[in-house]
Amino acid sequence: MKVLITGAAGLIGSEIVKSLVDAGHQVLATDRVEINPSPTVSFQKGDLTSPDFITELDFSCDAVIHLGSVPGPLHDTDANVLQNNVMGTYQVFAAAVEKKVPLVIYASSLSIYGTAWSGPWTSPEYAPFDENHALHHYESYALSKEVNERSADMWANRSATAFIGLRFPHTNTAEVFYEFRRKMEEGDQETLKTGAKILWCYLDLRDAANGILEILSKGAKGSATYNFAAPDTFAHKPTLDMLAEYHPTTEVVGHLPGYTSIFDCSQWLEDFGYKPQYLLDRG
Ligand SMILES: NC(=O)c1ccc[n+]([C@@H]2O[C@H](COP(=O)([O-])OP(=O)(O)OC[C@H]3O[C@@H](n4cnc5c(N)ncnc54)[C@H](O)[C@@H]3O)[C@@H](O)[C@H]2O)c1
Repeated sequence: MKVLITGAAGLIGSEIVKSLVDAGHQVLATDRVEINPSPTVSFQKGDLTSPDFITELDFSCDAVIHLGSVPGPLHDTDANVLQNNVMGTYQVFAAAVEKKVPLVIYASSLSIYGTAWSGPWTSPEYAPFDENHALHHYESYALSKEVNERSADMWANRSATAFIGLRFPHTNTAEVFYEFRRKMEEGDQETLKTGAKILWCYLDLRDAANGILEILSKGAKGSATYNFAAPDTFAHKPTLDMLAEYHPTTEVVGHLPGYTSIFDCSQWLEDFGYKPQYLLDRG
């Protein structure tokens, strides 16, 4: 397939570019910063919020993977994060529809539920929690992800383009998660607090890439968003112990044995079937 990928210079984007090339796809990559040049990847540099750049960008493809966003609220002012993430995404979606691209896959975030970046301590209402859980925004990064999901719904309503949003948890290399767990084991208070805010959920970059390849191969219709994460946590203690310590108000409504993740990804598994394979070793 011919695939346009935005945010190609980033953490997740660079991993996905590699996987797309390895899987034999033709890759058109874009970012506002340069990527490492590769003879097999075409690259266009520019800002997704610029209408002129969107007009220049090559949307003659079978799918768009849209990752070009500021990945959190601490990188800029609230207003700039909203402007960048919402308008960049809106323009990518609009151009994909105009050029009749069949499929758009885009990054949403577990931050959409509001626990990760809220000022006041915010706990999930229930666990495990699915995509129907309420969204409690406190800052504009989470808000931008919700606006983008609604934007995808709107563009799907008025076109034949399918939109799939993935609510990624903390997505990184295995080394980063091992280091996280080591610091939690040592009792590092800042890491323990951060771990609880991101609900000890994780996804290895290679699984993020494999999940996206799975969507490309299965195809999609309409507009849908999915929780997509490893089935376990990176925490150093079992899930029910962690919940009791950090989120005692969360009502446990399902079976959470051992280190089971509280992020319910059953809809993803039902529709796309890809089970993350790069899980942390517990010895
Ligand atoms: N890594 C995570 O833990 C995580 C978790 C949940 C969701 N996400 C989402 O996944 C996506 C990719 O995240 P990442 O971790 O790879 O972040 P990253 O910062 O490493 O990559 C994002 C890329 O987008 C580019 N970009 C940002 N705004 C742009 C614009 N206006 N025009 C052109 N390029 C622009 C940046 O230059 C950067 O290379 C983001 O949408 C992020 O919100 C990431």
